[in-house]
Amino acid sequence: MIDYRRIGALLAGRREGYCLPQGLYNDVDVFDFDMDAIYGTGWLMAGFTCELPTPGSYVSQMFGKWPVLIVRDKQGVIRAFHNSCRHRGSMICKPGSGSAPRIMCPYHSWTYEHDGKLLAAPRMGDDFDKSAHGLRPLRIEFAAGAMFISFAENPPPFADFAEKLEIYLGPQRMDRAKLAFESTISEYANWKLVMENGRECYHCATGHPELARTFPVTMSKHFDRANDARAKEFVDTMTANHLETEAIEGDWWQLARFGLNRGAETLSMDGHHMVRKLMCEENQGYVGSMRLAIDPHCFLHATSDHVFMFSAVPVSPTETLVTGKWYVHADAVEGEDYTVEGLSELWTRTNLQDKELAENNQLGVNSPGYLPGPYSRDAEMLALRFTDWYCNTARAYLAGRTAMDAPIHVD
Ligand code: FES
Ligand SMILES: [Fe+2]
Repeated sequence: MIDYRRIGALLAGRREGYCLPQGLYNDVDVFDFDMDAIYGTGWLMAGFTCELPTPGSYVSQMFGKWPVLIVRDKQGVIRAFHNSCRHRGSMICKPGSGSAPRIMCPYHSWTYEHDGKLLAAPRMGDDFDKSAHGLRPLRIEFAAGAMFISFAENPPPFADFAEKLEIYLGPQRMDRAKLAFESTISEYANWKLVMENGRECYHCATGHPELARTFPVTMSKHFDRANDARAKEFVDTMTANHLETEAIEGDWWQLARFGLNRGAETLSMDGHHMVRKLMCEENQGYVGSMRLAIDPHCFLHATSDHVFMFSAVPVSPTETLVTGKWYVHADAVEGEDYTVEGLSELWTRTNLQDKELAENNQLGVNSPGYLPGPYSRDAEMLALRFTDWYCNTARAYLAGRTAMDAPIHVD
């Protein structure tokens, strides 16, 4: 049983402009609370439809402790389900992807159609009602080729975000992309420390020497370079190429296109394209990076030759699984147009560097001497925005529970 009063007290103890009280970074109850209040209430990025290329394709993935199955049916419709068999609850498909003519549970062979209907349940008797035992659906929405699922009964509005994402990510043509590489690492740190790290570049100049070659690591605030002549030139060039640059945001998302360091074609080890076949050919491939951020768990950089997606999901109070996905043009041929090693090197190094930084952060936060410190208003505004969003979302969830439970102090 989660101690909501204690979580309310921890949230009430958060000082404005400062990182979070210790318990919000390492407490067992807070982990369960975060799954329900944060991962259970919003939209979560589940990859792109190009990962399900043919009828019968499926993708199975974990969102924290919750398994999800996404399936494309014979008519091409993509649906999401709880990956939990309606017999005795076994996970039906292990995490991964593939294609299958039917969805069969490995435990006792209950077999489902791609639309979730139960087709066969051996030895359950003639009076067994198969129609009452289909897979339980999850909400799924689509925009610019991306898939978003929600565990919530009433998730936040999606339409405005979808419209904006089509404008910003549409030119990347994710409908003709493919997943070139995927990797998952464990970071022994609370998911919020992992995400705060991913939301600021205060640490990048020293922490990510390779990323800093192409990524403008000193950029301030929300990709705001209003007084920078190079940035103005970038905006004018992108506008002439019908590419949006303005940094915009909703409650749980942010979008912006920004210029890379001088001469850089893409985010790569040397600034040169890593994929010969471009996804976005406007302006000879000099289109900067289109950044998408989804709270609570994701960021994405779309450059002319590839898209990199980062997703973090907690598996315990102090362990987070970080998955990286690299997408390229569907016609790019591995070994000819790109290599997986070349494509993945920059973000693999960057993620491993961040793993060490986040794990050090956790160890220091666990100290009895830990006191929350202030964020830089110049370099860490997006990390502050993230923890503000977290606290607001958590408080709203707690306030909603007061209808069911005894009153909780959530100021
Ligand atoms: S738990 Fe799936 S068939 Fe028994
Ligand atoms: Fe980093």
